[in-house]
Amino acid sequence: MSVINIRSNIRDYRVTFHSSPDFLDFGSRFQDFCCIVDETVWEIYKDTALAALPRENVVVMHFDESRKNLDTVQEIFDQLTGRDAKRNLTLISIGGGITQDVTGFAASTLYRGINWVFVPTTLLAQSDSCIGGKTSLNYRSFKNLVGTFYPPSEVHIHTPFLSTLKEEDFLSGLGEVIKLYIMGGRERFEALPNLLGPMLARDPAALLESVRESLLVKISYIEDDEFDAGKRNLLNYGHTLGHALESVTAYRIPHGQAVLIGMAFSNIIATERGNLSAARRDAVADMLAQALVTRPTKDEMAPAALIAAMRKDKKRVGSNLPLIMLNDDLSLVRINDLTEDAAVSALESLNTWLF
Ligand SMILES: NC(=O)c1ccc[n+]([C@@H]2O[C@H](COP(=O)([O-])OP(=O)(O)OC[C@H]3O[C@@H](n4cnc5c(N)ncnc54)[C@H](O)[C@@H]3O)[C@@H](O)[C@H]2O)c1
Ligand SMILES: [Zn+2]
Repeated sequence: MSVINIRSNIRDYRVTFHSSPDFLDFGSRFQDFCCIVDETVWEIYKDTALAALPRENVVVMHFDESRKNLDTVQEIFDQLTGRDAKRNLTLISIGGGITQDVTGFAASTLYRGINWVFVPTTLLAQSDSCIGGKTSLNYRSFKNLVGTFYPPSEVHIHTPFLSTLKEEDFLSGLGEVIKLYIMGGRERFEALPNLLGPMLARDPAALLESVRESLLVKISYIEDDEFDAGKRNLLNYGHTLGHALESVTAYRIPHGQAVLIGMAFSNIIATERGNLSAARRDAVADMLAQALVTRPTKDEMAPAALIAAMRKDKKRVGSNLPLIMLNDDLSLVRINDLTEDAAVSALESLNTWLF
């Protein structure tokens, strides 16, 4: 069992790694608690890892991107307000990043905030989203437009959960892991090519190491910028186009896969602007390609719709587009002056890479 401590302005909290699922015996620790469990996770683990949870404390819900909204939060309120415990209730969420975003929002707002414990079960949630304290809902066609800052009081990671992820969900998380390794300094960047093989084979030791390392990289970006005023924003590397691709494909392309394509797009522009050597751009593109399985169609890559979607980015300031770019020394920089013409031309080059 190892632990990572996270400092937060809201509350310090810890991430604990568990090799056995015994920690899920929450009944022995909390008196009044309700577990909200992702339906797929429940179906797979109800008779094994989750068997110790008392059924009367379990609510099974279906989560997907179309349900990351206030209606689903109300369903959760209906479940929780019907219980005897009120502000002393602990909400335990078990599932991926979508379960986290919706239940975290509910936990942060019900009775102005109740105790919240998160057990991430996807690669994306374990390696990335479980820390940082953001909760997000989609609003109409806008992704993650509504949200709060509310870290869980405890995060519990059991990497063997990752063995049952569908390939596309696993690879979606791998997109964020690759992003964090690229952003995590020279040693991690150089370790990445050798890590990809074992990761793709879901080697247990490689999974554990990469989840841990990814969280350490993320911590280094959020530690002094919890509320996203500057450095934390660099974690949006790959996300300008990534979010646009999720939006134009109605989330057919999962988040991390969209981010992979977004990083390739950003690197094309970085080379164009003289920030990134062509050799490094191509070396990164080769690694990204190894983890890319869900591609957009040629129609979905039509520049007009993608640029319209990028203009909806909530972090945009001014009339041009924002972009996080990789520099040749592996540092990152945010620009706010990407013109539509430059974006269209980079999309053309990206198409050559994709198809
Ligand atoms: N709050 C944040 O800081 C933050 C950061 C990054 C991403 N996100 C959000 O996270 C979401 C994506 O998260 P995700 O990729 O975890 O998606 P997800 O929660 O939809 O999970 C992906 C799929 O895997 C299934 N699943 C979960 N655990 C499983 C397991 N152990 N075995 C088999 N199947 C399992 C789920 O049922 C789902 O179908 C996006 O909405 C994104 O915006 C939030
Ligand atoms: Zn992301």
